[in-house]
Amino acid sequence: MLTVLVVNTKGGCGKTTTATHLASAFAHAGLTTALADCDRQRSSLGWLDTRPRTVPQVSGLDWAKSEAAAPKRTQRLVIDAPAAMRFGRLEDLIRAADVIVVPLLPSVFDEQSTAKLIAKVETLKPVRRGKKVLGLVGNRLRPRSRAAARLETFVGGLEQELVGRIPDRAIYPDVALEGLSVFDLPGAKGSQLRADWLDVIRFCETRGETRG
Ligand SMILES: Nc1ncnc2c1ncn2[C@@H]1O[C@H](COP(=O)(O)OP(=O)(O)O)[C@@H](O)[C@H]1O
Ligand SMILES: [Mg+2]
Repeated sequence: MLTVLVVNTKGGCGKTTTATHLASAFAHAGLTTALADCDRQRSSLGWLDTRPRTVPQVSGLDWAKSEAAAPKRTQRLVIDAPAAMRFGRLEDLIRAADVIVVPLLPSVFDEQSTAKLIAKVETLKPVRRGKKVLGLVGNRLRPRSRAAARLETFVGGLEQELVGRIPDRAIYPDVALEGLSVFDLPGAKGSQLRADWLDVIRFCETRGETRG
């Protein structure tokens, strides 16, 4: 089983969007997939509740209080972390993960929370020793905007890399409402939107091995 933790201490940066997109991408690839929701707001579980039966299914795990085991034969587990948690909880979630994905918006506030999170995560041995890799995902990017350029500069000063760039698109809140992701959309429009996630998926699948 490959476990992907989606985490940042900043609310609204796209954790649930990233977690639901990775989970549905894995399910579309034919992998038995579970989505663990650690957030008391239950956004990922709510998304699963509204998910139509006609699209590849993802099973839900309520991790708001504790970490229940994924169903047997689960091949991909995606963890949607809450914004705020005790350091011990973060440690537990990192211990459970193979890959850590950190979404952030092109904003100074997200840069600050991301820098803090990276500093915390790097105090943990498996991360320091390179056994668990952390990749950043720039979310809601507007091409050629000053904010997007600033984000690249910010990440350039870090050891971690931007392993994905997701554009700002009105379709994201729309599909979220229906329990869907861009992986569930038919046709050419969906295919362009899906392409934006391929680098993040590749990073997860290779556990960051082929970076650089
Ligand atoms: N790339 C994007 N383009 C447009 N809207 C987005 C994008 N990513 C996230 N959103 C919207 O931003 C809001 C917050 O995203 P969400 O994934 O819930 O963040 P978090 O889980 O980190 O709090 C949601 O309404 C979501 O639909
Ligand atoms: Mg969320």
